[in-house]
Amino acid sequence: MAHAVPDLPYAYEALEPQISAETMRFHHDQHHQAYVDKANAALAQTPWADVEPAELLTRLSELPDTIRGTVRNNLGGHFNHVLFWESMSPTGGGEPGGDLARAIKETFRTIGTFKETIEAAAMSTFGSGWAWLVHDGTRVLIVTTTNQDSPLSDDLTPLLGVDVWEHAYYLDYCNRRAEYVRAWLEVVDWDVVAERFAAAPVPDVSDVLLRTVSISGKNTPFGEITLDDARTQSAELGALAGWGPMAKVGTVARAWGELAKNLEGRGATCVAELDPGLVKKMAMDLWVIPPERGMI
Ligand SMILES: [Fe+2]
Repeated sequence: MAHAVPDLPYAYEALEPQISAETMRFHHDQHHQAYVDKANAALAQTPWADVEPAELLTRLSELPDTIRGTVRNNLGGHFNHVLFWESMSPTGGGEPGGDLARAIKETFRTIGTFKETIEAAAMSTFGSGWAWLVHDGTRVLIVTTTNQDSPLSDDLTPLLGVDVWEHAYYLDYCNRRAEYVRAWLEVVDWDVVAERFAAAPVPDVSDVLLRTVSISGKNTPFGEITLDDARTQSAELGALAGWGPMAKVGTVARAWGELAKNLEGRGATCVAELDPGLVKKMAMDLWVIPPERGMI
């Protein structure tokens, strides 16, 4: 199976005026094709020729040194560009809705802040690369990658990526990258991004739900904690905030308040009824399990 550049799901000129037909032709027909040709040449006659790009990009360490860099750059370029074409639509733009919007607001507070943050991330990428909205199994984050590196190789699920290689925008925007990113947001197909969000892998939190937490002197499994428990814990710890020996108690008290809000907002009677990603995030915020990853 040789990899192939898929047809665009719309006409070359469909994204005008945000992205010109000329840019789309060069970008899709020449740049993307070049990644595919080089990836196929590197993978031909190898045991990895038939492995799907999304899987192989998580297994780069298995490849011999002689082809690893070429595959990382060019199969990464292929995967990233397929995702990029599918993320745009002539009927795109506006704002995300539903569960995706809720997840974005949980991380960024508002959709406007999210848009400002991805623009800032795109501007911060030195040279060629991508700015991404990803899911890490617990929440959505913005990350950047250089060259054609994929978030998949960092165990992150890409939901949306903006190509900030100059070939993506120079014909239309010259060096005005920020203007390009703002225009690109006007053609993002949020329905497609929402589908990726819904399909993103979620963690197994069965052991987290069983960990016990002391609430008013009684050990309670995390999964059985109720709205009243969370409010009680928030109030009791909040009263200790500022007490020298417990420097972080105010932060943890706020996290219990956040858990109460999540339980109330979702009409859940206990933690076990929350989404696994949210359970894991809350467990990290409450230090029921230690946090794993920072974010920008
Ligand atoms: Fe590109």
